[in-house]
Amino acid sequence: MTAKLVVLVSGSGSNLQALLDASADPAYGAKVVAVGADRDGTYGAERAAKLGVPTFVHKVKDYATRDEWDAALTAEVASYEPDLVVSAGFLKLCGPRFLDAFPGRYVNTHNSLLPAFPGMNGPGEALAAGVKIAGATLFICDSGVDTGPIIAQCAVPVEDDDTAETLTERIKEAERAQLVESVGRMMRDGWKVEGRRVILG
Ligand code: GRF
Repeated sequence: MTAKLVVLVSGSGSNLQALLDASADPAYGAKVVAVGADRDGTYGAERAAKLGVPTFVHKVKDYATRDEWDAALTAEVASYEPDLVVSAGFLKLCGPRFLDAFPGRYVNTHNSLLPAFPGMNGPGEALAAGVKIAGATLFICDSGVDTGPIIAQCAVPVEDDDTAETLTERIKEAERAQLVESVGRMMRDGWKVEGRRVILG
């Protein structure tokens, strides 16, 4: 049976595109059934719409409280009955209601080797710290900022002439491949969480 993915985006959606491309092959075992955003006009939503994948937008500012936004987002995502919810460049922290609705089934990809450099500027902070190896982390979301159990990590070198932009792009290339491979494995073979450790298969 093909597993169902809902992907959340705030921007360009290159990670989303990698999942859309991978899921064109039935052997991948999963397909993107909907794409949600927290703002209008994301290229991510456009990528989905081009392929006829349903999209939705819930903006925090359209709700009286953050909790109401969280409830609306939760209900919409749940209506697609996803096996996995993927945050791929989604620039919002979801609330307890959302986390409770998709326990252990809401994952995020981040552009640093966590627990180093959580937050919005992973590559820039890695560069400023002078590390020689940077990378990306796929993890199961909890209520913290980039603090959940780690599913997979990949490393890329930091070059002497890197800028935040060139390092970001090198990380993103590795990050996309990791996302596709790990989500595919999770959906085909399953996974379990033992404390802080995530075991695939
Ligand atoms: C990714 O590098 C992710 O780690 C970071 O934002 C980027 C999203 O890129 N949080 P895209 O929208 O998938 O192109």
